[in-house]
Amino acid sequence: MSIGIDIVYIPRFAGKEKLATRILSKNELEIYHMRPNKEEFLAGRFAAKEAFLKAMKEGIGRVAFHKIDVVYKKDGRPEIHHDGNVYAVSISHDGDYAVAVVQIKE
Ligand SMILES: CC(C)(COP(=O)(O)OP(=O)(O)OC[C@H]1O[C@@H](n2cnc3c(N)ncnc32)[C@H](O)[C@@H]1OP(=O)(O)O)[C@@H](O)C(=O)NCCC(=O)NCCS
Repeated sequence: MSIGIDIVYIPRFAGKEKLATRILSKNELEIYHMRPNKEEFLAGRFAAKEAFLKAMKEGIGRVAFHKIDVVYKKDGRPEIHHDGNVYAVSISHDGDYAVAVVQIKE
């Protein structure tokens, strides 16, 4: 079993439309466009993707961020879909910071 965690500063993601297009999956980008607080959503997704890389023991650049898809389950809980596999993720934000944790069962 492996876990990964990442924390990010939300204001860094304000107005970052290009970054959003580059790192979000198609599904995430649709949600992003509907969200009033776009930087909070983008920051949470960025943290989730970085936490996923840590849990996978991969460096940045080895896995395309837009292929790491954070999907909401019916009950609202997020999970990560990547390369046909599903992984546990938890995301939180408060004030200026967003944090995410990913668990991978090996
Ligand atoms: C999930 C919950 C604990 C969020 O707590 P919060 O302190 O307000 O917000 P946080 O910043 O810590 O967490 C927000 C993140 O939790 C995740 N989340 C949403 N619903 C969730 C759930 N049911 N379980 C786990 N995680 C959830 C999301 O990823 C969200 O971030 P995102 O909007 O950027 O994707 C709170 O909304 C809750 O108790 N939900 C229970 C289910 C519920 O009430 N559903 C609505 C029924 S009408």
